[in-house]
Amino acid sequence: AACGAGGSASGGYPEQNITIVVPFSAGGPTDTVTRMIAEPMAAKLGAKIVVQNVEGAGGTVGADEVANANPDGYTVLMHHIGMSTAPALYANLGFKPLESFEMIGLVTEVPMTIVARKDFEPKTLQELVTYVKANAAKVTLANAGVGAASHLCGLLFQTAAGVKLQEVPYKGTGPALTDLVGGQVDFMCDQTTNTSGQITAGEVKAYAVTTPERVKSLPNLPTTAEAGLPGLKVSVWHGLYAPKGTPQDVVQKLTEALKTALADQKVIDQMAKLGTEPVKAEDATPQAHRAKLEEQLGIWSKVIADAGVKAS
Ligand code: MLT
Repeated sequence: AACGAGGSASGGYPEQNITIVVPFSAGGPTDTVTRMIAEPMAAKLGAKIVVQNVEGAGGTVGADEVANANPDGYTVLMHHIGMSTAPALYANLGFKPLESFEMIGLVTEVPMTIVARKDFEPKTLQELVTYVKANAAKVTLANAGVGAASHLCGLLFQTAAGVKLQEVPYKGTGPALTDLVGGQVDFMCDQTTNTSGQITAGEVKAYAVTTPERVKSLPNLPTTAEAGLPGLKVSVWHGLYAPKGTPQDVVQKLTEALKTALADQKVIDQMAKLGTEPVKAEDATPQAHRAKLEEQLGIWSKVIADAGVKAS
């Protein structure tokens, strides 16, 4: 039947700017990945995409905002592994990862690096473990708040090293890295999409990558397994979300735009320079995204409980 004036709400989608919420500070890894794909997605959709940083509480403030936004396709969330750790860490979440969102698709899985201020005494990961055991009370470990990827990786490190360190929370690892370069904080675990530049420039000391294989763009960095901490493995998977109830044909248009962006040579090159790569086309789908989130929720709730951390 004819669409009539204006057609169905989603028939002419998009008819206005689209906002992608990044639940961490500008200039950090989540922001960086989002801005990489925003341009080719906007071109495919024929709409302007605005990236908006909504910080706080390890990404849960931004996630909550999108979970409760209008399900019209004009507010979308970029989030990462933090969506699968939040329920185990926050007692009163304003959203349920599997019920409050429509999945649009997976984006990329980013390696993490263990990095320190460049004059920090330990020279290797093993020396770092020895050092923090002897100086636990005074060593500062930066992260982007409870539930951030850096927080989870820091938790894994402390569990593997058998220490409890003084954690210094930021609203994103963008500002955390600035302080690390400035020597205000001792070390942190952060994604290659943020740390690669400073590692290559020698502005921070890098001990290892948290992936099973070395990262091609950081060939001199050993894996945690090579460096003697095989248990410290974590990669930061990212997905795009829309509020539950967003019309399926709108989700489909967003998924198609995501796939187009991930096939864009500029995006592939930018990601490669920063140690990561787009997911395979079949993973940039709602089904693959939901399956990943279900799997990850199960894994991390157990790891967090085993680490003796309770939701608060
Ligand atoms: C960021 O974008 O700041 C990071 O994703 C924060 C984190 O999760 O560690």
